[in-house]
Amino acid sequence: MERELERARRGEADYLAVCTPSGQPVGFGAVDYTKPVGGATLYQLSVLAHLQSCGIGTILIGALEERIRARGIPFAELGIDDASPRPRRLYERLGYVVSGSETGAWDVDTPDGSVTRYETTITLLRKPLPS
Ligand SMILES: CC(C)(COP(=O)(O)OP(=O)(O)OC[C@H]1O[C@@H](n2cnc3c(N)ncnc32)[C@H](O)[C@@H]1OP(=O)(O)O)[C@@H](O)C(=O)NCCC(=O)NCCS
Repeated sequence: MERELERARRGEADYLAVCTPSGQPVGFGAVDYTKPVGGATLYQLSVLAHLQSCGIGTILIGALEERIRARGIPFAELGIDDASPRPRRLYERLGYVVSGSETGAWDVDTPDGSVTRYETTITLLRKPLPS
């Protein structure tokens, strides 16, 4: 998150938190304005587990899309891990359609304290954002 906030300070990204009226953050999400070419990428979308499916993610994605529109960028993209397809229904309901796929790989901490390499297929989805 620290690295992403530094990118936000440089104008390459925005990092938003959804907060309760008391200021408690309950959801987070970011937008990267540097990729793909001609668009912007939503990433690190997450809502506290016990508050999921209450509409917070929908509000968060709408706010991120507004930031993209304000820069005159015509479409948003996001990727879902094919091994965890649950959020796909939400994104499709919000107007995202499959635009391609790519291989994803990142390091994952294991319970025994070691790090393992995780590889998967990422399905990419896009949504036009007319100004
Ligand atoms: C994906 C994620 C960010 C979505 O946030 P969310 O707050 O759960 O999203 P919403 O509540 O807006 O929508 C999710 C579901 O709740 C339903 N919903 C929305 N508002 C609702 C309400 N007021 N009452 C009941 N259900 C509601 C939506 O229809 C949707 O249902 P579906 O999944 O069956 O289509 C969140 O679930 C999450 O953090 N998941 C774990 C991490 C993850 O998978 N991140 C995404 C990686 S690509």
